Amino acid sequence: MPFYAGIDVGSLSSDAVIIDQEGRMLGSAITETGAHSTQAAEKALDLALAQAGLSRGDLAFSVATGYGRVSVPMAQKTITEISCHGLGAHAIFPNTRTVIDIGGQDSKAISLDERGKVVDFVMNDKCAAGTGRFLEVMAGKLGLTLDDLGRLSLAAAGEVSISSVCTVFAESEVVSLVARNHPREQIVRGLHRAIVNRVAAMVGGLGVKEAVTMSGGVAKNAGVVALMAERLGINIQVPPEPQIVGALGAALLARRQAG
Ligand SMILES: Nc1ncnc2c1ncn2[C@@H]1O[C@H](COP(=O)(O)OP(=O)(O)OP(=O)(O)O)[C@@H](O)[C@H]1O
Ligand SMILES: [Mg+2]
Repeated sequence: MPFYAGIDVGSLSSDAVIIDQEGRMLGSAITETGAHSTQAAEKALDLALAQAGLSRGDLAFSVATGYGRVSVPMAQKTITEISCHGLGAHAIFPNTRTVIDIGGQDSKAISLDERGKVVDFVMNDKCAAGTGRFLEVMAGKLGLTLDDLGRLSLAAAGEVSISSVCTVFAESEVVSLVARNHPREQIVRGLHRAIVNRVAAMVGGLGVKEAVTMSGGVAKNAGVVALMAERLGINIQVPPEPQIVGALGAALLARRQAG
């Protein structure tokens, strides 16, 4: 029986998914991209294969996606992240008509038709303030881990407004808020509000059609998801592992290429 791999080499994480002929997911892995994208892609692929009990020789076709997709020699084809996130989100939640992907380096909103095909998309890759990198930098300044952010934000009794629109200035604003003893959870909520406002403005330009699914690592942050749902006035679906949605879409496209 043939098997297919999807490998998503992002700015922060390199992720892989293995599926069978029926599209069932047999293995997946999330690793750090670091400075060597090819090695990260190989590591993610081999971990996902090991989970599936397979080896590279069992793969009939592999597709690479993500900004580092050109550095994946094991893949026979590269496909843009837009198509992969769209198809991956559609496979998990077939009712998805809008995907919001917030990764480490860019954020995008994608409109899908009822078969998971991309109808339109918008993207921000110019400004770090609408990306996961913004939250990583701020978590560092606050002495918090990424896992802490969502929980603290949801528990905050209030919110500090962050006025700077740029990561570099927001960073010094956070430092001075900490120095003035503002509660950390309220600063975190304010930072989440800042990123949500940016991404929501971009999503608004596309037009929000329900159902909405969030993908990418930032979808693991329940604080961001809650504020986004509130701001857009809709319910947001989050896959069990939002960070592998692009790799899943790539694997499904690998199956289609071979078929
Ligand atoms: N456990 C976690 N809790 C909260 N947020 C997280 C967690 N893990 C990752 N993140 C967030 O996800 C971001 C990375 O997302 P992802 O792995 O989707 O990015 P990427 O695909 O490598 O980047 P890009 O698509 O922009 O090239 C981090 O910057 C961080 O903000
Ligand atoms: Mg990504």
